[in-house]
Amino acid sequence: MIIGGGIAAYKCLDLIRRLRERGYAVRCVMTEAAQQFITPLSVGALSADHVFLDLFDRADEHDVGHIRLSREADLIVVAPATADLMAKLANGHANDLASAVLMATDKPVLMAPAMNPRMWSHPATRRNRVTLEADGVRFVGPNKGEMAESGEAGEGRMAEPLEIVAAIEALLNPKDQPLAGKRIVMTSGPTHEPIDPVRYIANRSSGKQGHALAAALAALGADVHLVSGPVTIPDPAGVTTYHVETAREMLAQVEGLLPADAGIFVAAVADWRTDNEASQKMKKEKGKPVPSLSLVENPDILATIGHHAQRPGLVVGFAAETNDVIDNAKGKLVRKGADMIVANDVSHGSGIGPSGVMGGDRNRVHLVSADGVESLDEASKDEIARQLAAKIAEALTR
Ligand SMILES: Cc1cc2nc3c(=O)[nH]c(=O)nc-3n(C[C@H](O)[C@H](O)[C@H](O)COP(=O)(O)O)c2cc1C
Repeated sequence: MIIGGGIAAYKCLDLIRRLRERGYAVRCVMTEAAQQFITPLSVGALSADHVFLDLFDRADEHDVGHIRLSREADLIVVAPATADLMAKLANGHANDLASAVLMATDKPVLMAPAMNPRMWSHPATRRNRVTLEADGVRFVGPNKGEMAESGEAGEGRMAEPLEIVAAIEALLNPKDQPLAGKRIVMTSGPTHEPIDPVRYIANRSSGKQGHALAAALAALGADVHLVSGPVTIPDPAGVTTYHVETAREMLAQVEGLLPADAGIFVAAVADWRTDNEASQKMKKEKGKPVPSLSLVENPDILATIGHHAQRPGLVVGFAAETNDVIDNAKGKLVRKGADMIVANDVSHGSGIGPSGVMGGDRNRVHLVSADGVESLDEASKDEIARQLAAKIAEALTR
């Protein structure tokens, strides 16, 4: 791992931990600038290895250590990849240990750029990126969002450590990527249907199952585009996430993402919205009658995509039911034009934790398709996600 001199260098401490947890040996090179942000002591303690700092180090270079370093690794990750490191490699500079290792390596290189949005969008950085990609360098991120500098936002945030781990694993284990090249459009979370500017109709969906499935599909190599309703959990690693509020926004975003190889609809979309959203906050006034809400039906996203002119080859819907779980799912399979319905019993009597399936961490699902019904054992939502991702991979590569 080559650590460049940017504020995001602190995130590499977590990245080293995440990689070591997964059994990888991590050997670090720090640029001089990187040492202004984090210390070789922390990097050495977390990587449990010597940290390499200097091209002209007499102890490390008695056997031309920079060439050895560049060859012993299976992969070189540059995180954060500064504008400067990108420029150096794009132009063949080798005047410090980091750039010399990058120039001398015969192994794949993955860069996780991190910089101010203006530096990232500068024509020089854009040119360097095109050159590096043409030279076979792979990139993860950067993402959009708040910068460490106050008041700055835009594209330039370093990818999160788990996203970088997913990109590393994809490069190191291409055979575990049965979904490489497959585009999947998904939904997750609840929708919020406004009553007035401060109130809304919602449901208890947390997005945990949908987000876990998105991450599990991305880990199998899929290009996952996730349309998420309002949730409080982080965007899943390695997934392109779009944030929406209402059912209508969710449908428009999904349709804009077609065509796709698969559409997987996990979101608990509100069936109804008010037909008269107030533009001002509704006031409680003495003597005034209690307002009544009049509801209209929302678009049915699963049914719309199940019968769409650009219908993905595989359409999977999730059904939250409190009674007659399997019979209801069988009905939905046909009505909604889906290939598979993943039915879960969200009644509080489902025996899963005090809050049940919605919002909880465990789930029990039944897969209903034209082939019949298959019930998976109760498990954590992450484990259910892995099992479902494997089944979806099977269906998409059949
Ligand atoms: C406080 C501070 C933050 C910086 N953050 C970044 C950054 O996020 N990305 C970047 O490309 N350069 C950043 N720089 C500039 C680099 O540190 C500078 O270009 C340095 O020469 C990079 O050296 P290196 O590429 O050898 O690590 C920052 C500089 C300072 C003083």
